[in-house]
Amino acid sequence: MTEIKQRIEGLRDSLNAHNHAYYVLNAPTISDREFDMMMKELEALEREYPEFDDPYSPTHRVGSDLTKGFTQARHIYPMLSLANTYSVSEVDDWVGRVVDGLGGEMPVLVGEMKFDGTSISLIYEHGRLVRAVTRGDGEVGDVVTDNVLTIKSIPLQLRGDDIPERFEIRGEIVLPWKAFDRLNLEREQAGEPLFANPRNAASGTLKMQNSAEVARRGLDAVFYYLIGDNLPCDNHYDNMMVARRWGFKVSDTMTLLHSIAEVDEYITHWDTARRELPMATDGLVFKVNSLRMQRNLGFTAKSPRWAIAYKFAAERALTRLEFVSFEVGRTGVITPVANLDPVLLSGTIVKRASLHNADIIERLDIHDHDMVYVEKGGEIIPKITGVDTAARKADAMPVRFVKTCPACGATLERDPGEAAWFCPNKWGCRPQQIGRIEHYVGRRMMNIDGIGDETARLLVENRMIADVADLYNLRAEQIARLPGFAIKSAERVVDGIRASTEVPFERVIYALSIPYVGETVSKKIARAVKNMDTLRAMTAEQLEAIEDVGPRIAEAIINFFSAEKNREIVDRLASAGVKMAVDVSVDSPIGDALAGKSIVISGTFNHHSRDEYKAMIEAHGGKNVGAISKKTDFILAGANMGPSKLEKAGKLGIPIIDEDTFLAMLDNH
Ligand code: IVH
Repeated sequence: MTEIKQRIEGLRDSLNAHNHAYYVLNAPTISDREFDMMMKELEALEREYPEFDDPYSPTHRVGSDLTKGFTQARHIYPMLSLANTYSVSEVDDWVGRVVDGLGGEMPVLVGEMKFDGTSISLIYEHGRLVRAVTRGDGEVGDVVTDNVLTIKSIPLQLRGDDIPERFEIRGEIVLPWKAFDRLNLEREQAGEPLFANPRNAASGTLKMQNSAEVARRGLDAVFYYLIGDNLPCDNHYDNMMVARRWGFKVSDTMTLLHSIAEVDEYITHWDTARRELPMATDGLVFKVNSLRMQRNLGFTAKSPRWAIAYKFAAERALTRLEFVSFEVGRTGVITPVANLDPVLLSGTIVKRASLHNADIIERLDIHDHDMVYVEKGGEIIPKITGVDTAARKADAMPVRFVKTCPACGATLERDPGEAAWFCPNKWGCRPQQIGRIEHYVGRRMMNIDGIGDETARLLVENRMIADVADLYNLRAEQIARLPGFAIKSAERVVDGIRASTEVPFERVIYALSIPYVGETVSKKIARAVKNMDTLRAMTAEQLEAIEDVGPRIAEAIINFFSAEKNREIVDRLASAGVKMAVDVSVDSPIGDALAGKSIVISGTFNHHSRDEYKAMIEAHGGKNVGAISKKTDFILAGANMGPSKLEKAGKLGIPIIDEDTFLAMLDNH
């Protein structure tokens, strides 16, 4: 009995973790199929042992894609999911159940693609799109109308004279392969993490706060479900053909099927033909065509009885594991990589596959030189999903996760509740050092031209730089000594480094390699906190008040600044002239109130940070200087001005002005 309880709890924990990875992080750690298998096992156990049921079990909830920052709307008809099957015989069984449910009559079925994107519900009134809502938790979703308006294939105004006054249409927002490949290429060049598959890219894009960027990425939408009281026809297929006439994209793979044989043939055909389609699919959907029959069959708690999904098997190959290598990333996380005997898998030769983390190695129980199954299930990076234990040599040793960093030898650590092991030697571990520099110079970060991955490595290995702040001390003659450089190209690199001091503050935050702080979060932080001094001093609670910042990000920021070394690097960047505050001139008018004045800032302030005052002085034509001299016009003084400064100011007769007076000076001018 306790064993069963343990199994139930183990399954719940894993499913919760996978749900989080899938819905919140957009980075699934297992295939849909494995997920479904675990969910089915848990459902069965809970049914059999109701005494262990728990209202918080993952079986009682559908995942949610609700995001802070969007308003929410309740679906008029809940957005259910479909029951999944993985074999032709399971589909045939479903047809059998439908026939039974209809009193022995074989209904006309519709076969269609299961497009792999993110589902959307569109509401039209008087032929116009009025609202677009994501699936959310099935009951309530995010209103993403602004972003959906940018999708060119979605009609905003319908054509035709038979359009119901009000109706809802559902479909899938997808990122076609071409757009997906282009987006990932851009991200690769910018040193940003790649999207694992078009589904994550589509849902991530749809949830962006910047609709111009959404428009640029090239989303598309295909529709498969018309709902409402006054639909034009009494069957699904004809309704979809009418919707196509109104202006919606309806896939022409949609086909009427009249027998089990035709269903099986449809599966056989599309199992391979789907690879020719311009967008990702993860299966097929079969639906009863007649709306009257659909009503008769009805719904279970989670899904309609009149429809079923057939999921394609991920393409799989069997090959030999040569060895496992352990690779260190920019943030110190160790990724185990299976190096394989090269094998052909859906058109490409696979030599390496991710083993994700120590837990997965353990779960697979992988041994040296095992024959392993490699899968490419919609994901671009192939993964090892199983081991052929029958082919194992008797004396093969299990693969052990390393205990020390393969690059620097430090003892690895892992945070409670996290799967990833990381090397704590942030400052002495080469791949981390190099990785952070590569990131810092990236196009979307400080945009320093001429330093690619190889140059970053050479600079570190030749001890010319150890961290990003050292870049600003590099001289052209030093760079010119590196292979591939001449004095001219080295000078260009130095110019590029100098030009990076003009890069806006939000990108400086992003460039620092604070774990989990990506491009969007950096922008939100910059807008909310305005300058680095404030950011450095913030508590978790204050940080979490910023849009898109949760406990994990808040903790990462606090950890980052609690390291002496990071604070020192940031200080050195500031001295080098890198922007440590948003440009004040952007939100306050530029004036000449302080033209030609030399001003010293001293002490701590209430209304603005020192960086902001510095920017204000400059925006109004003044000059902020460090030390008090005869030439100083006045001192902008906050609380706790140092005694030596006070004394010096007194001696030289330099006026001391508090912040209220200072702000009034600017206002009055
Ligand atoms: S019908 C009540 N048809 O699959 C049934 N869904 O697991 C409504 N999907 O949330 C769904 N292609 O995001 C339907 N041709 C298709 C589909 C499809 C993809 C997605 C959709 C839905 C999920 C169901």
